[in-house]
Amino acid sequence: MSPWRLSVAPMLDWTDRHCRYFHRQISRHSRLYTEMVTTGALLHGDQHRHLDFNTEEHPVALQLGGSDPADLAACAKLAEQWGYDEVNLNCGCPSERVQRGAFGACLMAESSLVADGVKAMLDAVSIPVTVKHRIGIDQIESYDFVRDFVGTLAQAGCQVFIVHARNAWLKGLSPKENRDIPPLRYEFVHRLKRDFPALTIVVNGGVVGDDAIAEQLQHVDGVMVGREAYHNPWSMAAWDTRFLGADANPHDSREAVESAMVEYLGRQAESQGLPWAHGARHMLGLYNGLPGARTWRRVWSDHHLKALPASQVHAIAHRREVAA
Ligand SMILES: Cc1cc2nc3c(=O)[nH]c(=O)nc-3n(C[C@H](O)[C@H](O)[C@H](O)COP(=O)(O)O)c2cc1C
Repeated sequence: MSPWRLSVAPMLDWTDRHCRYFHRQISRHSRLYTEMVTTGALLHGDQHRHLDFNTEEHPVALQLGGSDPADLAACAKLAEQWGYDEVNLNCGCPSERVQRGAFGACLMAESSLVADGVKAMLDAVSIPVTVKHRIGIDQIESYDFVRDFVGTLAQAGCQVFIVHARNAWLKGLSPKENRDIPPLRYEFVHRLKRDFPALTIVVNGGVVGDDAIAEQLQHVDGVMVGREAYHNPWSMAAWDTRFLGADANPHDSREAVESAMVEYLGRQAESQGLPWAHGARHMLGLYNGLPGARTWRRVWSDHHLKALPASQVHAIAHRREVAA
């Protein structure tokens, strides 16, 4: 089974290590990605803050934003030294800030520079080096563009491609709009798998629900899920048993997941002084769709309770009724 069969997408401000620990309570075997970290932030900033993670998070990939091959190689080495299972290069982010730094989706127009970066990283480390990208940029509508991009990087040694199945429009759309407005074209991604059968091709974008995941897995090696996993985390509850060959899922109820998080938040408060809200914010969708979910969510986002330990907030959240 491909290690990339099912993963949770890198999401800036969202998939920090507390979020990843939380997701692990629901799916033990899917692949998790960090938020994008720029090479500049890693080489000149607080490495510990950017790179530290809980051992429970494995398999976990570090996503890099950058374009200078030497910087990418240095950061890939850091990723390997810190114990990451993969280093992933972001060639899909359309934000203007990222474009000014000349990385993200605009790199799709510079495949030879990306190939140099991939080569430099592959020479520096023995963990897999992967690329996450779009099917095109701006008004480029032809399949040949993404085929040639993948072909060039494959020649440089990249074997795993995570493809967000829509274009990035570099002008005129916000990053958020760029995740919704350019149309999804799964067919392009399926065609990549047919044209490059030896490569690992993972589809991303708008895949919601286990049946849609199963459908995609008929065509490609893996599926990466972003917003649905974050907003509706219990949607991952059957991933391990249905898709990842496990005998059991990590916890059989939302309550058990919440209890595991309360223990974690208590440990983090003790060892690192972490305010519980920093971790709890990622689990606010846990009871989505159930009666009582809003009241429960309100307690876990109530800053008036910030002086209390997580265990007491937990008790308050369940003093009101939460249906199972
Ligand atoms: C809040 C947010 C932050 C994101 N940050 C990143 C990022 O740092 N790197 C990246 O490659 N993609 C990022 N993305 C895009 C997702 O990884 C994913 O490609 C996109 O949401 C489409 O998948 P989905 O429809 O399953 O959410 C972000 C998405 C969201 C919603």
